[in-house]
Amino acid sequence: MSQLLVIESSARHEGSISRQLTQDFIAQWQAQQPHAQVVVRDVAKQPLPHLDGDLLAGWMLPKAEQTAAQQAAVLRSDQAIEQLLAADVLLLAAPMYNFSIPSTLKAWFDHVLRAGVTFKYTEQGPQGLLSGKRAVVLTARGGVHAGLPSDHQEAYLRQVLGFMGIDDVQFVHAEGLNMGQDSATQGLNKAQQALARVA
Ligand SMILES: Cc1cc2nc3c(=O)[nH]c(=O)nc-3n(C[C@H](O)[C@H](O)[C@H](O)COP(=O)(O)O)c2cc1C
Repeated sequence: MSQLLVIESSARHEGSISRQLTQDFIAQWQAQQPHAQVVVRDVAKQPLPHLDGDLLAGWMLPKAEQTAAQQAAVLRSDQAIEQLLAADVLLLAAPMYNFSIPSTLKAWFDHVLRAGVTFKYTEQGPQGLLSGKRAVVLTARGGVHAGLPSDHQEAYLRQVLGFMGIDDVQFVHAEGLNMGQDSATQGLNKAQQALARVA
């Protein structure tokens, strides 16, 4: 049975375009795969903490030698990675905040990018350990950035996903959402058409 892991990250619980696109994607995906499992992790509603000394030290120690705080930090990372490992398809919903992704989504990446588990270094360089998975990224942006130097979302996300071995990545950008009603409607329509092709 195919599994879709959805990561929501809009700080808006009402009126969020990325959340709306996520719902559209899930509906279309489930229509094609009625038995597929959908797991949703909302890093805005239940944020992971920033990387801290307990997590970095805990990663380097055997469990028996970890303090209680280190064990708790490592457990959060373990659980996030387990969800990712179980998924066949990863759906990331990413509003653009200050030209990049929400810090809550960055914190999720900081918990799942783990040496020896999701990537490793070899004599030939880094090797991603999650090959075979597919990712779809739904972005929502007030302005227009696709293909421009101001887009610090797409390049970063391609980099970190590829670093873990996820190279099959498709982006759907909803843009111009804060540039007047016509622009918002056009941006959303365009994204929904692209989403239908991707889903
Ligand atoms: C804190 C904050 C920062 C933002 N920064 C940008 C930005 O750098 N570029 C941009 O085009 N839009 C920016 N926006 C607009 C959002 O990307 C836009 O409202 C988008 O629809 C948010 O996603 P959501 O609808 O899923 O909440 C920002 C919005 C907020 C609240």
